[in-house]
Amino acid sequence: MTRTPFHDGWTAGFKLGPFESPAEGRGPVPVVLPHDALRDLPRSVDEVQGVHSGYTPGGAFEYARELDVPESWREKTVRLEFDGVYRDAVVFLNGEVVTHEANGYAGFTAELDPYLRFGETNRLTVEARAHRDSRWYSGAGIYRPVHLVVADPVHIPTYGVVVTTPDVDDERAVIEVAVTVRNAARHTRETRVRWEIVAPDGETVASGTSPVTVLPGTDAVARARLTVAAPARWHPDHPHLYAARTTVTDAAGAVLDGESTTFGIRTLQVDPVRGLRINGLPVTLRGACVHHDNGVLGAATHDDAEDRRVRLLKEAGFNALRSAHNPMSRAMLDACDRHGVLVMDELADAWTRAKVPFDATITFPERWERDIRSLVEKDRNHPSVIMYSIGNEILELGTPIGSTWSRRLAEAVRAADPTRFVTNGINGIIANLPRMAEAREQVEDANTMMANMGDQMGLMNASPLVSASIEESAAVLDVVGFNYADSRYRQDAVDHPNRVIVGSETFPARIDVMWGLVEELPHVIGDFTWTGWDYLGEAGIGRVDYTDEPGYADTGTAGPFPYRLAESGDLDITGYRRTISYYREIVYGLRTDPYIAVHRPQHHGRPTATTPWSWTDTVSTWSWDAAPGAPVTVDVYADADEVELLLDGESLGSAPVGAEKAFVARFETAFRPGELVAVARRDGRVTGRHVLRTAGTPRLQAHAERAEVAVGGLAFVTIILADDDGIAVADRDVPVEVAVSGPGVLAGLGSGRARTEESFGASAYATYDGRLLAVVRVDGPGEVVVNASAEGYDEVRTSVVGV
Ligand code: GAL
Repeated sequence: MTRTPFHDGWTAGFKLGPFESPAEGRGPVPVVLPHDALRDLPRSVDEVQGVHSGYTPGGAFEYARELDVPESWREKTVRLEFDGVYRDAVVFLNGEVVTHEANGYAGFTAELDPYLRFGETNRLTVEARAHRDSRWYSGAGIYRPVHLVVADPVHIPTYGVVVTTPDVDDERAVIEVAVTVRNAARHTRETRVRWEIVAPDGETVASGTSPVTVLPGTDAVARARLTVAAPARWHPDHPHLYAARTTVTDAAGAVLDGESTTFGIRTLQVDPVRGLRINGLPVTLRGACVHHDNGVLGAATHDDAEDRRVRLLKEAGFNALRSAHNPMSRAMLDACDRHGVLVMDELADAWTRAKVPFDATITFPERWERDIRSLVEKDRNHPSVIMYSIGNEILELGTPIGSTWSRRLAEAVRAADPTRFVTNGINGIIANLPRMAEAREQVEDANTMMANMGDQMGLMNASPLVSASIEESAAVLDVVGFNYADSRYRQDAVDHPNRVIVGSETFPARIDVMWGLVEELPHVIGDFTWTGWDYLGEAGIGRVDYTDEPGYADTGTAGPFPYRLAESGDLDITGYRRTISYYREIVYGLRTDPYIAVHRPQHHGRPTATTPWSWTDTVSTWSWDAAPGAPVTVDVYADADEVELLLDGESLGSAPVGAEKAFVARFETAFRPGELVAVARRDGRVTGRHVLRTAGTPRLQAHAERAEVAVGGLAFVTIILADDDGIAVADRDVPVEVAVSGPGVLAGLGSGRARTEESFGASAYATYDGRLLAVVRVDGPGEVVVNASAEGYDEVRTSVVGV
């Protein structure tokens, strides 16, 4: 079997249809997959998808490619493996329809055999469309990888190898391998399957073999139980990975097919007394909800971008990700396995009641079994995956019929994979929208309820009406996921003593309270913040507004045009850690040093408006274009008794901090360039410090994250305005022009600025707080040079080597 990336040689263009007029239609242009057809379309205030897509339009698109089909393929079977096409993909070969996949996030295969023309150039086309079908920026087109598989008629089908580790202790682990052998030939075939288990150090540590006779036109499942001595267990702290190498040979020993499957050896337990345990050791989930897009790349899912996101999220203190609200990419699952990050993978955002006009509810009632199969087949060999979530804030969840859907979906997931837990992101308010007036009456203090949305949700979520309505849907789960319902945690332990809870979605600024509950209550196994990494669409949901700004209007949670990003992520879309990320690290107990976050002095004293998903408009810098003496507010985050703030050695005062003070000490002071130091003390002893220095003369700098990049991979180049010590300046933002030469292209350029009309597809973009990210696709071996230039600064260059 050969399985090769199928990313070159495509064109993409608008498919003329109800969403486009010929006048607007753009001719097909050459593209390299993965590709997002929406990213570079003109955004507009009038766009009907509005805040959901960040004012980006939708459309119907057609991808096309020629495929040379040699005569020798008459003896083969040929398929395309798509990891995801958004959305309603229809694949054609030579004008004949091959397959249709409605789900924009599900992997699927297109079996080409019936339509191949041998000895000729064949034409492949893939249609995709996206329009008013998502609550967030979806992207469109063939946005995830595609592979061409040419196999013997006797072969292992896609996801045909399943590895489980049902019995593990320190002495040995039993590895159960089940392999499907498909016989697409006309005669019964006698084959032999061989397995080898390869340890993390490359040694073969177990092997087995079995003869397998396969009738024509059928599948046969071959199984073996192999024993590995002294297994190196997979755990977030030491993610050891094994490989199961499977080979299928014919009776004479000639190889027909083979596959290497990465897996981990670990055990998984959960109960309300001991919480979650991996290999018998307690683990609390420091979780982040993440969307599928890749920032400046749009929705395009490149392996290197997914790997980088997982790596940076882990470095920021998270040990778990929730794929909100759709199945995670294969690339991200692989990265989670490698980096030791636990995964809650999610089926859908809606089942039968729509949230936006043309969403997946159109097809879900008929296609849910296929959706579940595709989710579980993709996930089940990944040690990182510990939970499947069957939904998010499902509207019908609180009704008796909604409960039958909950049960049906949970049982189908269990039947497909009995080794993980089933959860669901339940929002009792959303599940009871029509009945909320009644619930309000059951809440004692209506004024408190109205005071702010967070408390309001909490009180209503804990109301008897909500408790009763969600009881059946919650009872079908192994772990009950609650969105914004920490108000239930304590009482549920009394009312439902068998219930294990995870905070499947919580307000970012409340992590101090959330984490206290996770640490205190054994039946609450973790917390997933909204969100870990900022995303496109749901524009402005986490912004901070200055309400005295000319033209300001209260638009609630919706950011007005030209907001593009949610502005709700510990890390911004470029992977830069915002101040809340350090706050969280301190709350988690992972950082002993304090952290200084400075409110922008130019906005000092201005009235602000925030949403429950906002943090503060702060930057960790002491480089400001502010007059000496200008008033400035400084927050210091610390888990200590007190912090002292000093400017050039002179004390500005001390303030109590730590859990009692929500881990923040606030200082009002006056700006003066120099060295600002925060010193944390516990019991009078210094426990840590954080230093900010005013930057000297800044110059434009470009830093590639890695010196070498595999051909086909991505180079990430950070462009900053910083002084010779690397201290970035946040007091000016300049447009930077980026040029790439050598065997590479600029794949995306952008900053963390949420409100902008700039384009990620352009060669110029303004820095935000002194920073910019350029992503370069390396197309061949050799040196790829990245030049950055900005008016008033010396041009700078960096390079990576394609290998
Ligand atoms: C939640 C929802 C998320 C996102 C979030 C913030 O209720 O589950 O998908 O919309 O609100 O806007």
